Amino acid sequence: LKFVCVSNDGVDEHMIWLIGLKNVFAKQLPNMPKEYLVRLVMDRTHKSVMVIRRNLVVGGITYRPHASQKFGEIAFLAISSDEQVKGYGTRLMNHLKQHARDADGLTHFLTYADNNAVGYFIKQGFTKEIYLEKDRWQGYIKDYDGGILMECKINPKLPYTD
Ligand code: ACO
Repeated sequence: LKFVCVSNDGVDEHMIWLIGLKNVFAKQLPNMPKEYLVRLVMDRTHKSVMVIRRNLVVGGITYRPHASQKFGEIAFLAISSDEQVKGYGTRLMNHLKQHARDADGLTHFLTYADNNAVGYFIKQGFTKEIYLEKDRWQGYIKDYDGGILMECKINPKLPYTD
């Protein structure tokens, strides 16, 4: 089992993983148009943190680091249905936080959470209150109706992974 962070950099193995992740998203996020999923997962401004087991994608998170604003926008998150509620979603979020802080220099995450995922995000330290000053994020993140805007502050020192 491994956690990786990749983007569309032309490396064969990375492309195969990104396509695998797109397929997990397509199944788990049926309301998202497929072309939109492909476009963002393959977009070079986005990165994906994934759980890989026996070289297969179990799930992942696609996000866009807004480096100048020091926050990341989570676009998609999913774990394959037969692998849910085993702790992978939590471990994935911890790897994302660690990578975003240490490699991207981010302090916060924002996401439009689906109603049924709000409970998961709360357990990961997200809140419905947005404490980040508006001028740091307004105009940077994509509006998405049908979701609830949630925020997470990344702890500057905590070791999120072992
Ligand atoms: N609602 C409430 N609580 C939840 C949910 C949920 N939908 N999913 C998991 N939890 C809880 C678990 O019970 C667990 O609680 P515990 O720590 O008290 O035991 C905790 O959250 C973490 O569970 P994990 O096993 O780590 O999470 P999992 O691997 O199942 O991944 C995920 C969670 C990613 C939400 C998964 O259920 C999934 O893929 N769902 C379908 C797709 C989806 O809804 N994605 C998010 C859409 S919003 C977006 O993409 C921005």
